[in-house]
Amino acid sequence: MSEIDFGPLQVLIGTWKGDRGTDVAPEPDGKDETPFFETIEIEAVGDVTNAKKQTLVVVRYHQVVSRKSNNEVFHDEIGYWYWDADSETVAHSLTIPRAVCVLAGGTVKQNGDEVEFQVSAKDGDRDWGIVQSPFMRDNARTVEFRHNIKVSGDTLAYSETTVLDIYGKTFDHTDENTLQRS
Ligand code: HEM
Repeated sequence: MSEIDFGPLQVLIGTWKGDRGTDVAPEPDGKDETPFFETIEIEAVGDVTNAKKQTLVVVRYHQVVSRKSNNEVFHDEIGYWYWDADSETVAHSLTIPRAVCVLAGGTVKQNGDEVEFQVSAKDGDRDWGIVQSPFMRDNARTVEFRHNIKVSGDTLAYSETTVLDIYGKTFDHTDENTLQRS
């Protein structure tokens, strides 16, 4: 495992903790803003070859997010990040326990010391899409997902927008936080 070159994914590996998070979530009559703390554990998986042609390097993660007000976990997410060096494409798959799965794709940029990941997905997109249960599709549909992560040394800052079709309106469900590698 140690000989594997994880490319830009290398900077993600580690245990990250941050307590400056903000979640903006939909409510029937408006929105809820919730300050949170969280841990994101990101581990090396290895490499895989697809159809004898494509080689991906892969890391996996588990994100556990808790409300500051009562310390209760209110978001749990697992997934993988993939890097295809040949096409210089990064991909990010995630599952949340509402029966929603996302496969987002995008790019990585190096800005001086900072590595920036930008991925997105859209419901119905042939390349980078969203799969959700019939109930979620009909009542709380994830229409679009955009995720930006910036890693500089032991600091990781992210901001993500999940566009929802819920309560008869389109709502930007947003999350952001800055974490440190421990
Ligand atoms: C740090 C990340 C996140 C946090 C803290 C978070 C938190 C929340 C909260 C508090 C609600 C409102 C729940 C309720 O009213 O019962 C919510 C709703 C929702 N979230 Fe997230 N969320 C996060 C990320 C995501 C992601 C990545 C997705 C999907 C790609 C997602 C999809 C949804 C959906 C579909 C709903 C609507 C369900 C509902 O309100 O009944 N969320 N989220």
